[in-house]
Amino acid sequence: MSGSGTLVQVKRLLIIGIGAGDPDHLTFQGANAIAAADVFLLVDKGEAKDDLTRLRRDLIAAHGREPYRIVEARDPERDRTTPAYTAAVEDWRSRRAQIYASFIADDLADGQSGALLVWGDPGVYDSTLAVLDEIDAEFDYEVVPGISSISALTARHRVALTRVGRPVHITTGRRLAAEGPTADDVVVMLDAACSFTGAGEDHHIYWGAYLGTPDEILISGPVTEVADRIRAARAEARARKGWIMDTYLLRRAPSEDHRRTQNK
Ligand SMILES: C[S@@+](CC[C@H](N)C(=O)[O-])C[C@H]1O[C@@H](n2cnc3c(N)ncnc32)[C@H](O)[C@@H]1O
Repeated sequence: MSGSGTLVQVKRLLIIGIGAGDPDHLTFQGANAIAAADVFLLVDKGEAKDDLTRLRRDLIAAHGREPYRIVEARDPERDRTTPAYTAAVEDWRSRRAQIYASFIADDLADGQSGALLVWGDPGVYDSTLAVLDEIDAEFDYEVVPGISSISALTARHRVALTRVGRPVHITTGRRLAAEGPTADDVVVMLDAACSFTGAGEDHHIYWGAYLGTPDEILISGPVTEVADRIRAARAEARARKGWIMDTYLLRRAPSEDHRRTQNK
């Protein structure tokens, strides 16, 4: 309530996970959240990744409830050449925060809901929630989970993400290259350099690119046998489409000792 007794309506943001590329990944909860939004913020990453923006537009057209508005913004460029990785990410984040802050201040009226459509699941290697934490504005927000590329990967390969009672480590290509596989089951994302090459002979890889889309590629097998095939498929697809997103699970074969304890 304001001092004069009128109800102050808060601005609301809906952070909606839209799945990893297949429009059918969108959950009923996600579709309902899209229908509840008055304004959508689409942050464009540039022409090479047009497909990613197209899916968001298609989902809004399919599930949005008129009248709604779409506000477009350009993703700030990130300096990927500097060795100062953390500083470059911090700089990018604060410019992203500026875009969200302007969206809330200028494009949302009190009581309205704005939506951000986040690739995959907002909780997996996505900075939207962390960036929103930096914003100094009065607003409320809700998070709608989405199907992550990890779920899409394991489902398409028809394998379970977790083995009985065992942990899984989720990491980046950069870290895998620096540290090697840090668990028997490692999911690797954001790998521009095929860092699986360093995995040992006892590793199996389940690799997927453009999961859930018509361009999907799936390759699996012992790393030593399929590494060249993955590298070639990756390079060819990247050259043809101008961008690539790939994810993989590296799974070490159970040792004899482990097999014996499991079978007791
Ligand atoms: C910034 S992260 C976003 C992850 C996303 N939030 C999720 O839940 O999957 C981008 C990375 O996710 C992975 N990824 C996302 N979509 C993918 C897809 N359709 N196929 C394969 N990998 C994908 C790739 O490793 C890519 O480098």
